[in-house]
Amino acid sequence: MKFKPLLLVNIGQLLTLRSAVDGPRRGALLSELGIIRDAAVLCLGGKIVSAGTTRDALRDPWLKKNRKKITEIDCGGRVVLPGFVDSHTHPVFAHPRLVDFEKRISGANYEEIAEAGGGIRSSIDGVRKAGKSVLTKKVSAVLGEMARHGTTTVEAKSGYGLNLESELKSLEAIRAAAREWPGTVVPTLLGAHVVPAEYRGRPREYVDLVCHEMIPAVAKRKLAQFVDVFCDRGAFSAEETGQIFTAAEEHGLAVRAHLGQLSETRLGPLLQYHPASLDHMDYANDADLAALAQSDTVATFVPGANYFLGLSRYPDARRLIASGVAVALATDYNPGSSPTLSMPMAMSLACTHMKMSPAEAIAAATINGAWALRLADRKGSVEAGKDADLAVFDVGDYREIPYWFGANRCELTIMNGVPIPAS
Ligand code: NIG
Ligand code: FE
Repeated sequence: MKFKPLLLVNIGQLLTLRSAVDGPRRGALLSELGIIRDAAVLCLGGKIVSAGTTRDALRDPWLKKNRKKITEIDCGGRVVLPGFVDSHTHPVFAHPRLVDFEKRISGANYEEIAEAGGGIRSSIDGVRKAGKSVLTKKVSAVLGEMARHGTTTVEAKSGYGLNLESELKSLEAIRAAAREWPGTVVPTLLGAHVVPAEYRGRPREYVDLVCHEMIPAVAKRKLAQFVDVFCDRGAFSAEETGQIFTAAEEHGLAVRAHLGQLSETRLGPLLQYHPASLDHMDYANDADLAALAQSDTVATFVPGANYFLGLSRYPDARRLIASGVAVALATDYNPGSSPTLSMPMAMSLACTHMKMSPAEAIAAATINGAWALRLADRKGSVEAGKDADLAVFDVGDYREIPYWFGANRCELTIMNGVPIPAS
């Protein structure tokens, strides 16, 4: 791909998210956005070359000489920040789950709906019947819409096929959609989402299928970078999760898990596998937080799920942050618990319901999301050498990003140096 040199000037607030400390942001550092006022960013060959004040940028001799060849974007005093890293999404599904939605409104909860034949299992049939090109189109549409909301890197899980053929098909759809999108996609195998109906009462055999067929086939075709497990009541036990993580390790795939959404699971045995991230974390035992804080595993909150399931309980972000745990925010885009692809919406919920400050929410949605995908060397901050992934918001103060909830204030997204206007 040929990249045009890009110069963003007249940025009111540039949130660089740069840090002198290596590793994900923890504690007080989570609030440090590294703001430069009246800033400029120069991007060449899909990478950031410099980020500083507009005055310094315009004095640069190379820039003076080449200014005519550069596409200049006047940001008119707006806010520019690293593109969001949405580190937890399930974009490969065929239909929305409107019956679940109505049942919940009438008082049923997530687990009751699943037991009555709704929930994750009710999305399987649609994916198994859909052709790869239909799924690819759906994923492509979602990626485009995510970009229009400021997201430039997306982790995308399979997990509604739940047999070898349809999990491979889902990951192939993710790959095909990713090839057409200028942003960055990190694919994850979630073969262990739930035990499908044909394995009812035989979970061990299903875990064997995930370990001995799905993981080897996915690794061989290089279709995923991570293996995820829904480790919770009604899905997979910690012991089964350990077996699946062992198989992933044997095949060179890194691991992550859905954990603590419905019930508490102790972290000790799972941390041995160095998961990149443990997601949801509505239930977390105090005694595990020190070990989690000592590790590089990120705790990823997905408050869109708490909101959409109508829960009054949200993850205790303040307790985790105070314990030194590295936290990230993601949308958990999926048809059952969180049909939103808006990172500003997830951030707004984190502020209002989890008492994270706007600054903390921004760091959790950018640099710590990049750590949760092990991409922090390329993503999540605006620094020379990193990928040119930026979002321009039509606001004068970064706190307005989570403030104007439910409306899209993103004006322009730049993905690997390619600008895409939001409208
Ligand atoms: O992250 N908890 C497991 N997986 C999804 C829900 C998927 C669904 O309900 O379809 C989640 O909330
Ligand atoms: Fe999820």
